[in-house]
Amino acid sequence: VAAELLVVGAGLIGTSLGMALGGRDVLLADPDAGALEVAVGRGAGRVWDRAQPFAHCVVATPPATVAGVVAELALAFPAATFSHVCSVQRSVQADLAERGIDLSRVCGSHPMAGKEQSGPGAASARLFAGRPWVLCPSPQTGPAALEATRRVAELCGAEAVELTAEEHDAAVALVSHLPQVAASAVGAVLSQSTEQGTRLAGPGLQDTTRIAASDPAMWIEVLRQNAQAVAPLVRALSTELGVAADALDRLAAQPDDTAALRAVDGLLRRGNAGRRLVPRKRGEHDRDFVLVAVAVPDRPGQLAGVLVSAAEAGVNVEDVRVEHLPGRPTGVIELLVHPSAQAEARRALAAAGWDVVGA
Ligand SMILES: NC(=O)c1ccc[n+]([C@@H]2O[C@H](COP(=O)([O-])OP(=O)(O)OC[C@H]3O[C@@H](n4cnc5c(N)ncnc54)[C@H](O)[C@@H]3O)[C@@H](O)[C@H]2O)c1
Repeated sequence: VAAELLVVGAGLIGTSLGMALGGRDVLLADPDAGALEVAVGRGAGRVWDRAQPFAHCVVATPPATVAGVVAELALAFPAATFSHVCSVQRSVQADLAERGIDLSRVCGSHPMAGKEQSGPGAASARLFAGRPWVLCPSPQTGPAALEATRRVAELCGAEAVELTAEEHDAAVALVSHLPQVAASAVGAVLSQSTEQGTRLAGPGLQDTTRIAASDPAMWIEVLRQNAQAVAPLVRALSTELGVAADALDRLAAQPDDTAALRAVDGLLRRGNAGRRLVPRKRGEHDRDFVLVAVAVPDRPGQLAGVLVSAAEAGVNVEDVRVEHLPGRPTGVIELLVHPSAQAEARRALAAAGWDVVGA
């Protein structure tokens, strides 16, 4: 009897997918026996014997290998449908077409969730929960393949969004591939500094370099396969930086050069405008919230205490940031709240004995 699902590639995404479907009959395949063992141990599914048929197969392998995997399995299992989860779509669609595969049986997709680490050890059952999962049917994709792919996304708790491969690749170039290049460039500049130089680093540097820790082997593939869409954006970034560098040179020589000040100010303001477009939660934006900051001693239990006081005052906390002040025994807990709740939050937290910053 046919299993519901085969997942080929028991890495970060394939294992997370199996774990998210916990309880269902998921078959797993991966040439890396170690990866397969970890994935099975984490409850992602059971090892496929390469004979049992399956209704749908998710190929969760590197983009360059997807068409080869689908070509082989589609021939051997003529009733099955296929999807993949690649971070790039156009190039994979082109590979599939070149192989002469029946494209009605195949649907591209891309869960917009991931991590800096790869491999099954980094997998998580909650990786896809509440995240968008882009479905990229080609013009040839049939309804059975599209619906099977949508079902996988929904069973993982993700929100299916349908885009063409072209729309998808342009969108991820902007929201994912450009930030990767930018973070890597900041990291590359830092790598020339001494440890002394980075010792003062705080959350700003953490935020701007987090994804610079990503796996180069994975990203070189992504950037190669989406180079056409990424190149103009990196060029635009480089233009912004070039203008800023020239203006800063002029300010170094002449601190009140008004044209240079305007150029730097313009960059910062365009930065504000772009940042406001970045969603925090679905449908909500940064500008909708304001900060309430509380200075706390660096002791266990402070964050929980502040959150309990806020909850007791009926204040809905949208997000929390914790900042440690380097070399000082205090930290700052920043609560993001709706503007209408700010005054009450400050009052209630101060009344509960917290050191509200700026109160
Ligand atoms: N890592 C992310 O953040 C992320 C997010 C969304 C989508 N994706 C996409 O998911 C796919 C997998 O990425 P990952 O991060 O899980 O990688 P990974 O390196 O963690 O896992 C890939 C797995 O595929 C296996 N594999 C390689 N070639 C194979 C083949 N020919 N047949 C069977 N198995 C093979 C490898 O042994 C490895 O275990 C990629 O297409 C990637 O673009 C990644």
